[in-house]
Formats: sequence, C-alpha cells, structure tokens
Amino acid sequence: MSDLFKVTIDNITVEVPAGTTILQAARQIGGDVAPPAMCYYSKLQGSGGKCRTCLVEVSKGSEKDPRPMPKLVASCRTTVMDGMEVKNITSPKVQDARAGVVEMLLINHPLDCPICDQAGECHLQDLSYEHGKSGTRYEFQRRTFKKVDLGDKIQLHMTRCILCYRCVFTADQLTKEREHGVLDRGDHAQIATFIQKNLNNDFIGNVIDVCPVGALTDKTFRFKNRVWFTKPVDAHRKCSNPDCCGEVQLWMRGDEVFRVTARKDEWGEIKEASNGKTGWICNECRFDKKHITDWVIEGPTKVNRHSVISQGHYVGLEKPKETFNAVMNGRYPKLLMDIHSVSEVNKPEIDLSLLNRPAHSTDFNQ
Ligand code: SF4
Ligand code: FES
Repeated sequence: MSDLFKVTIDNITVEVPAGTTILQAARQIGGDVAPPAMCYYSKLQGSGGKCRTCLVEVSKGSEKDPRPMPKLVASCRTTVMDGMEVKNITSPKVQDARAGVVEMLLINHPLDCPICDQAGECHLQDLSYEHGKSGTRYEFQRRTFKKVDLGDKIQLHMTRCILCYRCVFTADQLTKEREHGVLDRGDHAQIATFIQKNLNNDFIGNVIDVCPVGALTDKTFRFKNRVWFTKPVDAHRKCSNPDCCGEVQLWMRGDEVFRVTARKDEWGEIKEASNGKTGWICNECRFDKKHITDWVIEGPTKVNRHSVISQGHYVGLEKPKETFNAVMNGRYPKLLMDIHSVSEVNKPEIDLSLLNRPAHSTDFNQ
C-alpha cells in the first residue's frame, strides 16, 4: 500500500505523506491555494491552532468515508486523509469565516499602521487587505495595557499583540530558560511579566522576526525608515556563535544598513540556512553589526510575497506562483488586469520591472 495520500485542494490534486497537515499540502501547491496562517510557524513546535485564520472547508473526508466535515477546520492542525477534498479560495463559507476572524482580530488591534514599524511586512495588514471588511462594527473602548520595558533592543506594544504564542515558543525553544508566556485569560490575556528576563539570551531577538504584527519590534530600527524605502540584500558573516547561521538580510538604503533580520521564506517564516542550520540569528548579528563592512554581500534578496516591499520592482523579482488558472479549471478570471497597462501610472518609457533600484516619483506620470 502506498503511504502517499492524494488530497485535492481547490481542484488541484497533490500527493503527500501520511501525517501531513492540510496547510502543508496546500503550501506544496502554493499561491493563493495556501491558507493564510497567523499563529502556525513550521519551525516552532506546538504552534498553530490559536488564530483560526487558516480555516478551510473539507467537502469530502476521505475515499473510505466521503462525508464532508460538518464544520470548517483549522488546516494547520488537521491532517490529510487519502482522497480528501478541501476548499479554500473556492469556498464562500471559508471566505466569510475568514472575514469574521479578521474582524475579531482587529477588535482590539489599534489601526496605527501609519506609524507602526511593521507596516509593509505585517501579516495582519495583508490579511485585512485580502479578507477584511472596510468598516468596523465595534463601538467600545479598545483593550489597553501598561507599558512593559524590554530594554534598549526590543519594543513590546502589547495593544498590537494577537496572542499567537509564536514569541512564547521561540523563547521556550531557543533560549535556555523560558521566562515569559501568556498571562491571564480572555480580554486580559497578555504576553508579559517576565519577558524582560529572557533579554539576556543571545537569541531572544528572534521574537521580533516571528511576531506576525508590530507587537515586538526592533528598537535599533524603530522610526528610522519605512521598510518599503529600504532595499533588502542577502549577506553573511562568519559568526562566532555556533548556533547562529550568520546568514541574514540587510535592509539598506544606499550604503547604510538600517536593519538586520533573519532570512524569510515565501510564507514569512525563517528560511533554512545554506549550512543546514535552521536560520535563526544571534543578537550580535542582528543588533550590533550595522556596518556594511561587517558583512559579505551576496546580492538583492528575491522578494516574492504580495507585499509593498516588492514595489521597488528590482531586477530578479520573483513573482508569486499563480494558481488561478488551475483552480478555475483552465479559465482566467476577467477581473485580473495589468494595472500598468490600464492606468498608465508609470511613464511609458520606464519599465518598472527592469529598474535596478527602488522606483522614484520621477518614474511616474505626475
Ligand atoms: S507579541 Fe507577537 S509573537 Fe508574541 S504572541 Fe503577541 S503577536 Fe504573537
Ligand atoms: S494558523 Fe491555523 S489556527 Fe492559526
């Protein structure tokens, strides 16, 4: 008997090993078929099952028992069965439920994107843009918290936290002692109290990279620049810390290094390093090596998320995988259009995709 299970997600069939989750199977297909995930993080054990953004509809349970599952399921925690059929972007129920989840997440999340350092790379911002509603029905006072001082490197904005637990798992699994967690329950639940004690650890800076929103940000970069004005560049150095992979992304403007982060894959997760290490970086690489001579530059990072960061249109830009054609059984939806050919926003002689630099206002029609 084959130990590969056939699963069909949004009309596309893949074969995956038994024990694979629906979310991982959908990521193998790629593109929009992969459900969004705000709390699941494949490199952190125990993550997932908290936020419900990855809900999908199982319209056929398996070959043996084809009954549909009665409720939408969290794809990050549900494993596939042979012959299972799943609907994500083809299910109006899922789209509706996801809009509800976004509304719920935004109830207590401040709408301070214009001043938040995470803007442009915030997963909640992307999620709201893709699945949210334009207005809010919430009329009550939003939750607020006392400020917690995390020292001179990391800023905690508890009001922005969506309680995904990723930073808790990161501190738990990357540092020697776990000192912080989620305290209290319901409306009072918060990431807090003893996170300060984790700060002495070499790897605590990674909580900034796993936080899907702007609740944990890098103080050495705070308010210095908008991410879409900087250019991400892959670089490495020989780091003396044996657990640090030394492979990073430098966020540069001209020759100035504004920020150092770990490298991320197309799902926004830490990318495995070329030397086989997981990809986590130490605090020294992240916070103290801010000079271009500290690093060996490899070249521009390939940007492939639907993100404002890709607005620079660098040469070598990797376009996200397009799955519409397969999902729609060979048809192309008429609504898709090339904004550049329709609105002619850029000057006709400028091909934005061939610029080897961020686009400037002079490239566009006034
Ligand atoms: S601070 Fe960020 S990573 Fe930690 S639980 Fe809140 S949203 Fe998640
Ligand atoms: S990503 Fe599945 S519940 Fe959060």
